[in-house]
Amino acid sequence: MKRNPGIIDVSSVRQIRQWFDTYLDTFDMHDKELSENVTLKREHTIRVCNEIDWLGKELGLNEAELVMAWVLALFHDIGRFEQFRTYRTFVDMISVNHAEFGVEILKENSVLAMLDNTTEEFIYKVISYHNRPSLPDEETPECLFFSRLLRDADKLDIWYVLTSYYSRTDREKNRAIELNLPDTPGVSPGVYEGIMAHRVINHYDVRSLNDFKILQAAWVFDVNFHPTFKRLNGKAYLEMIRASMPESLQTDGIFAMIKSYVTQKISNGNSPCSA
Ligand SMILES: [Fe+2]
Repeated sequence: MKRNPGIIDVSSVRQIRQWFDTYLDTFDMHDKELSENVTLKREHTIRVCNEIDWLGKELGLNEAELVMAWVLALFHDIGRFEQFRTYRTFVDMISVNHAEFGVEILKENSVLAMLDNTTEEFIYKVISYHNRPSLPDEETPECLFFSRLLRDADKLDIWYVLTSYYSRTDREKNRAIELNLPDTPGVSPGVYEGIMAHRVINHYDVRSLNDFKILQAAWVFDVNFHPTFKRLNGKAYLEMIRASMPESLQTDGIFAMIKSYVTQKISNGNSPCSA
C-alpha cells in the first residue's frame, strides 16, 4: 500500500519546525499558569513526535512516511496553546474542539502553504480526526492509517503523563489532569457498561476520578497497532493506573478484563492493524 500522500521536503520541514518554535514564543511566559500549561503541551508534543517516529519505524515506514508522521505529531495539538490562552482550560466541552481549532490556526498562519494542496488537506484531516471518539469509515486507507498512527502515539504519551503523575507521592493536585472530579469510590453505570462492551468510554459518563481512570485504561480498545500494545504492556501503564485507585473487587475485575484483552492482542502476533 502506498501510504504517503505527499512529500514534505527538507526545507519545508525546517520552516515548519521554525514556525512551531516562533509561534510558541508568542505566549507570555511571565504568566505562570499559562507558561506551565504551554510547557506541558510543548513537552507532550515533542514526546508524541518521538513516539510516532518509534512506532513508524516498528511498522517499517519509509523516510517520507516518517516525515509525514512527524509533522502530524508536531501539529496535532497546536490548538492547545491558544485554547489555554483564551479559555484557561484544556476541556474541549467547555471551550473549543482543540483539533479543529488547531487546523484553523495552521490555516490562518499559512503554515503549510509551501506544500501542495493535497498534502496540506491531508494533514488538516488527520489532525481534525485525532481526538474523535472514532474514525470515519469512508476515508482513504492512507488517511486512516496515519490517523491510527497518530492516535496510538498520542495515547502512549498521555498514558506516560498520567502514570508519572499518579506515581508521584508528593504531587500537588493538577486541575488540567484531574479536571476537578470528585475522588469518590465506585464505578458509574455508563462507564461500567462501556468497559464491559469493550468500548472507549464517553466523557459524558464520567462522574468521578475513578471513572476517569477507567476511561484512560479503556483507551486500549482504540489501540490500533501491535507495537503499541507491546509498549503499553512493557511500561506497565495499566498496572500503574490501577495502583492509583482504591481497593475494590469490581475495579480488580475491570482491570483483569482489560489486561486479558491486551495480552490477547499481543499474542495475536504482528498484524499491522490488529484492533
Ligand atoms: Fe496530544
